[in-house]
Amino acid sequence: MKITFYGHASLGIEVNDVHILVDPFISANEKASHININALQADYILLTHAHQDHILDVEAIAKRTNAVIVSNYEIASHFGNKGLEYHPMNHGGNWDFEFGNVKYVNAIHTSSFPDGSYGGQPGGFVIEGERKNIYIAGDTALTMDMKLIPMQTNLDLAILPIGDNFTMGIDDAILASDFVQCDKVLGYHFDTFGYIEIDHEEAKRKFFDKNKDLMLLEIGESLEL
Ligand code: NI
Ligand code: MN
Repeated sequence: MKITFYGHASLGIEVNDVHILVDPFISANEKASHININALQADYILLTHAHQDHILDVEAIAKRTNAVIVSNYEIASHFGNKGLEYHPMNHGGNWDFEFGNVKYVNAIHTSSFPDGSYGGQPGGFVIEGERKNIYIAGDTALTMDMKLIPMQTNLDLAILPIGDNFTMGIDDAILASDFVQCDKVLGYHFDTFGYIEIDHEEAKRKFFDKNKDLMLLEIGESLEL
């Protein structure tokens, strides 16, 4: 499994030659100006919630690639009504896709489309594929529901928001790492806007002091599991 950071909460995941994009917000992110959305491959686009900083580039990418949009019922049907391919899910549900099993799990946040219309309830994803298991938390507060995840899945990587203000910050992300029983964390949802700028060295040191590994990728950089 290969995971590429495209800035903010945007990720590319490759599992068995299947390309998955998560929460594409790239074309308006000045820090990601070197990423060309017209060159990104996508068989599936997973969306955690409807906020603009998670769905901005969905239509452009899905129209070009015919990617299947996977999200909660409201978001998936919103894009389905525009003629795009979609697979609706909701909290607690699993589905076996060609690349592995996906579960849509709870997140504590909000989820409205940019025009204010209802975007269902926000979530995260647990993906089991290629004998590697990852948790993509989405935008969320620290929540006790995270403790449910390791009851069913041994995670190899937890992808957690760390920018604070709109989501968990570093200290809560460290607790989240305990809750999901995964000491290997990829941080995301930081530095894009003034509200969520973080001190990278301090963040890494705080994780290190708890015997945990916080990885922060450059935009466009990948890691292999
Ligand atoms: Ni959000
Ligand atoms: Mn966000």
